[in-house]
Amino acid sequence: MKLVFLGPPGAGKGTIAVRITGILNAPHVSTGNIFREAIAAASPLGLKVKAVIDEGRLVDDGATIELVRKRLAQDDVKDSYILDGFPRTIAQAEALAGFSVVDRVINFDAPDSVVIERLSGRLVCRKCGFNWHKTFNPPEKDGVCGKCGGEIYTREDDRAEAVKKRLDVYREQTATLIEYYRKQGLLADIDASPDAGIVVENLRKLLQP
Ligand code: AP5
Ligand code: MG
Ligand code: ZN
Repeated sequence: MKLVFLGPPGAGKGTIAVRITGILNAPHVSTGNIFREAIAAASPLGLKVKAVIDEGRLVDDGATIELVRKRLAQDDVKDSYILDGFPRTIAQAEALAGFSVVDRVINFDAPDSVVIERLSGRLVCRKCGFNWHKTFNPPEKDGVCGKCGGEIYTREDDRAEAVKKRLDVYREQTATLIEYYRKQGLLADIDASPDAGIVVENLRKLLQP
């Protein structure tokens, strides 16, 4: 199954994708993760996008589309994938339609109060990328990832100012994709507010044939 995860920053797209990728046998493709890996590696792409991402603005459509087009041409995502964080603009959605046929678009629905609380407490593992949370899912040992022993940090774009910018960008450029995909009959809404385990269970039921 070819899925797109849509929703505001902090709705839990990445968290749920990591938990359900194995169940659905659909590789998790996150543009945010690809960009962060490029930044960590100080590659040309990483150097180019770092400032934009840290401020909470969108990377330009051209570079982002090209990246996803190449990734989706690989063999492991021939039959199924979870596309997390792409598309984020109408131009990206139109480009995607030109190189892949999406089966369902899941709209992670959560109010601002929930996403702000989640982002302000998020902790990320530098090594494996796992998302911890100060309150909802704290690592046992302070600053150390319980999955891989890696170092845990707070994302630059999870600072209050960048979070506000990301929410504005979402409203201005991305939220319009909800109606875009609803009109195509592809959209399914999911309440992203409950605990991650409950969201996974509800999504699994929703996707049952
Ligand atoms: P990206 O990495 O995609 O960031 P985002 O959309 O801002 O989303 P987040 O990763 O912040 O939120 P999420 O929904 O994945 O939440 P998470 O699961 O982590 O993109 C980063 C940047 O890259 C963008 O700002 C942009 O600059 C650039 N970019 C990426 N794609 C692009 C594109 N297509 N075009 C242009 N630019 C692009 O959860 C958050 C926290 O909440 C975690 O701590 C987690 O533990 C906790 N949590 C999650 N779910 C639950 C739950 N159900 N209950 C309790 N806690 C929960
Ligand atoms: Mg994410
Ligand atoms: Zn880790």
